[in-house]
Amino acid sequence: MKFIKVDSYEKLSRQAANIISAQVIIKPDCVLGLATGSSPIGTYKQLINWYEKGDIDFSNTISVNLDEYVGLSGDKDQSYRYFMNNNFFNRINIKKENTFVPNGCAEDLNAECEAYDAKIKELGGIDLQLLGIGLDGHIGFNEPDDSFIKNTHVVDLHESTIEANSRFFASRDEVPTKAVTMGMVSIMQAKKILLIANGQNKKEILEKAFFGPITPQIPASILQLHPDLTVIYSEN
Ligand code: F6R
Repeated sequence: MKFIKVDSYEKLSRQAANIISAQVIIKPDCVLGLATGSSPIGTYKQLINWYEKGDIDFSNTISVNLDEYVGLSGDKDQSYRYFMNNNFFNRINIKKENTFVPNGCAEDLNAECEAYDAKIKELGGIDLQLLGIGLDGHIGFNEPDDSFIKNTHVVDLHESTIEANSRFFASRDEVPTKAVTMGMVSIMQAKKILLIANGQNKKEILEKAFFGPITPQIPASILQLHPDLTVIYSEN
């Protein structure tokens, strides 16, 4: 594991964007595993900036996102599909049909989960997976549990996650209580993993996840077993 500490969110975002752009330049038709949330916003901004300057071309790139709320369609501004379109996809030249986000409104959610795993497999797996980390150690929406869950699945969000995510909603009651999330197999089978985190409040969970025992009670701790993991952290 490479653990890189930087002193600003700007530097974190630039370094993360550097790793992603190197991946796209080396393999233009790569599969990027992408995340939503506050952490990657600066990374996406930096990538958009380089795209606008003509330095990166996403026309052959494919993306698969980690997760989506159950019950929020892509046109709802709190949905993760909307977030990705708004913060990244609409502002670069990736083909919309090459961007995959789980459908949290699927009539048969179990079938949707199976189809999502099959899609990732058909694409040949993920070349580079970008991750954030929740305050309880979740990655994607793999919440603390008694065991690691392998496949894409529907999950009940923990109270702390609902609380943390309520900042994106008008009120806490509007935060969906369930989500569809990629499981640990697709994440761990990614060829490279890049986890980014910023802020004092992430310090303790990062210590537990990357310098403590591997346990499903801290889902991100499994990443210690990945052969090509980079963590970038900025306290500010
Ligand atoms: C989002 C996701 C989540 C977030 C995590 C951290 O797609 O998978 O695991 O990465 O909740 O969120 P932020 O970056 O908002 O602190």
